[in-house]
Amino acid sequence: MDSPVVTQLFRRLFRHHPACQSRQNLAALASALRDVRRQHRLLQQQRHHGRRCYSSGGRGGGRTPQYDLNWQQRSDIFQQDMSDEFKKFPLVTAMDLRNRTERPRRVKMLMRDFIEDSLYNPNYGYFSKQVVIFTPGEPFDFGSLYDELDFHSLLSRRYVEFEDALDAVSPSDTRQLWYTPTELFRPYYGEAIARYLVANYKLTAYPYHDLIIYEMGAGRGTLMLNILDYIRDVDPDVYDRTKYKIIEISTQLATLQNSQLMQSTAARGHADKVEIINQSIFDWSHTVPSPCFFLAFEVFDNFAHDVLRYDMETQRPLQGLVLIDEHGDFFEFYTPHLDPVAARYLRVREVATGGRHKVPYPTTRLGRWLAGQKPLSANLSPPEYIPTRLMNFFDVLGRYFPAHRLLTSDFHSLPDAIKGLNAPIVQTRFQRRPVPVTTPLVHQGYFDIMFPTNFQTAEATYQAITGKLTRVLSHEEFMRRWAYLEDTETRSGENPLLTWYKNASVLFTV
Ligand SMILES: C[S@@+](CC[C@H](N)C(=O)[O-])C[C@H]1O[C@@H](n2cnc3c(N)ncnc32)[C@H](O)[C@@H]1O
Repeated sequence: MDSPVVTQLFRRLFRHHPACQSRQNLAALASALRDVRRQHRLLQQQRHHGRRCYSSGGRGGGRTPQYDLNWQQRSDIFQQDMSDEFKKFPLVTAMDLRNRTERPRRVKMLMRDFIEDSLYNPNYGYFSKQVVIFTPGEPFDFGSLYDELDFHSLLSRRYVEFEDALDAVSPSDTRQLWYTPTELFRPYYGEAIARYLVANYKLTAYPYHDLIIYEMGAGRGTLMLNILDYIRDVDPDVYDRTKYKIIEISTQLATLQNSQLMQSTAARGHADKVEIINQSIFDWSHTVPSPCFFLAFEVFDNFAHDVLRYDMETQRPLQGLVLIDEHGDFFEFYTPHLDPVAARYLRVREVATGGRHKVPYPTTRLGRWLAGQKPLSANLSPPEYIPTRLMNFFDVLGRYFPAHRLLTSDFHSLPDAIKGLNAPIVQTRFQRRPVPVTTPLVHQGYFDIMFPTNFQTAEATYQAITGKLTRVLSHEEFMRRWAYLEDTETRSGENPLLTWYKNASVLFTV
């Protein structure tokens, strides 16, 4: 119902600035458009209701810090004072909104609930909408390519062909299309993972236990097929004892995984080993006592985060909430009353890291004093995004999978992230071009919100919660150990499996 509105919005964005190619400019335009819309509403409201607004951002321009007050974020633009609405509107969670088909209005929610609702609401969430994972079709024959550039241009061609084919069936300006290393380097990526699994299974559990593999968030199901094909071909004894279980939140992707499994005779051969469980890992509720491997590839990056800012004078954290007004516009508030999940995350992190973690403000008194002397200096620090959902995931592992071994890969840094510590990229695609924006507070369901993982802190938190030991390697180091590198080497000697995904790391239980 709202898609024409958004399509129109994007269309206007591009019609007025056809020559504007840079991501930066697109981001500025998108946020300017949003701000103009909000300003327009504000003016209308002032005209009709005589509401007051205040501008701040400068020292002394805001309110006196009082810890019984909730702070509306200072902003560079005029922002409406929504304190009364903040008091009146009910606090809702992503869980409360699960069965709603319309985006909520006149409510407030924690940032993690806002992000979770935007990404995962079954009706209007990003994952339930037009998300498509690219597959290159036939695996790339790297030995026939001259170098990485050659690989890149072939990939671009396949990407366009893939989307042309989708458009021929059902044209879309707002289709969200991404690719993952599992797909780009199939089957070699999956084979490297399979080698790791079989070797570690034989070292730790064989012959007393079966090889049980859980995969959370399996996308198109490609990793599952590549792993099972490899084990069947290389180690039939282990294959006989292998079981593969997918835990997948998206119904659309769970259906696709199932149809991939039924597509060919070779794949159908795996069917009695595979179970596809269409639910979120956060709804898991029964114990798996057997030793098992737990795989998660590019799933952490979409786990919802909370946002904190710190009082620059006291370094006390304040937690971010989002207020949504009757028009669907967003306002950010900060409260000193941390909810139990965010408070626990800070405690666990403090203990797990021994206090050695980054903060989004100068760590010395002098640094903070100097920061405070700058004209228009803020009373709150820049935002820090904390991985509260990732902590919940470690809780699930520790509680329900006591004998698991985790193997996970994700991004340790992301280019073009929005402002803040551990901040996400927020972007959509319009007419096949990425449109990044500068805030996660955007029309729910149209934008990917993708966080980097701080592997040092994540590793410490995981160890503290599960009591297990781990190692972290770069994607390249891991592949050097477990991949057959000649499979992905081009004629010039360049190897995209090693050089792409420089910003990804791998964490595994030892
Ligand atoms: C970026 S895709 C990665 C797909 C695949 N692992 C790959 O690397 O190609 C993220 C996957 O995680 C799933 N997912 C996200 N959150 C989840 C959750 N809470 N529980 C289970 N699956 C989840 C998504 O539906 C999707 O299949």
